[in-house]
Amino acid sequence: MSADPAAAEVVSVRLVVNGTPVEAVVPARLLLSDFLRHQLGLTGTHVGCEHGVCGACTVILDGRAVRSCLLLAAQCEGSEIETIEGLTASGRAVGVQQAFSRNHGLQCGFCTPGFIVSAVEIIEDPASAGMSTGELRERLAGNLCRCTGYAGIILAVKQVIAARHESEAYEPQGRAAWS
Ligand code: FES
Ligand code: FES
Repeated sequence: MSADPAAAEVVSVRLVVNGTPVEAVVPARLLLSDFLRHQLGLTGTHVGCEHGVCGACTVILDGRAVRSCLLLAAQCEGSEIETIEGLTASGRAVGVQQAFSRNHGLQCGFCTPGFIVSAVEIIEDPASAGMSTGELRERLAGNLCRCTGYAGIILAVKQVIAARHESEAYEPQGRAAWS
């Protein structure tokens, strides 16, 4: 009688999540999104499509925003991952979160953690200083929202970019100025 090969397929993985070293034995095919949610309890990483389309599962992996449903936990050996929980705890996401709230950038909130994570990556990119609204929309095109129509989201991120880079273009004149 041969052993079930699927049952034997576990691997050990070491990575840093939100600044904390983590070592775990995981199924070789376990998605990073499921690892974060079910093994580490980091349920702020949402799972929508599980096909890399909606962006709800976005996390930062070694400094870049990625879809955690398209990665295996085992692939992240030696990596540093930041989730919405880590970005919130460190204060990096706070400005964006406040701007989303101020500009009605969320309704049901399902997409929001993914948007916030993507927005943090964009805002911390020095190239965002001169980013047009069209370019910003393109950068955020990998995150889908079924509720808001995106106007408040784009407005929120534009405001944070402007404030961060002290852009002369920053004139808080309301939603129409940014849409
Ligand atoms: Fe990962 Fe939709 S759940 S992109
Ligand atoms: Fe509901 Fe975006 S706020 S999906």
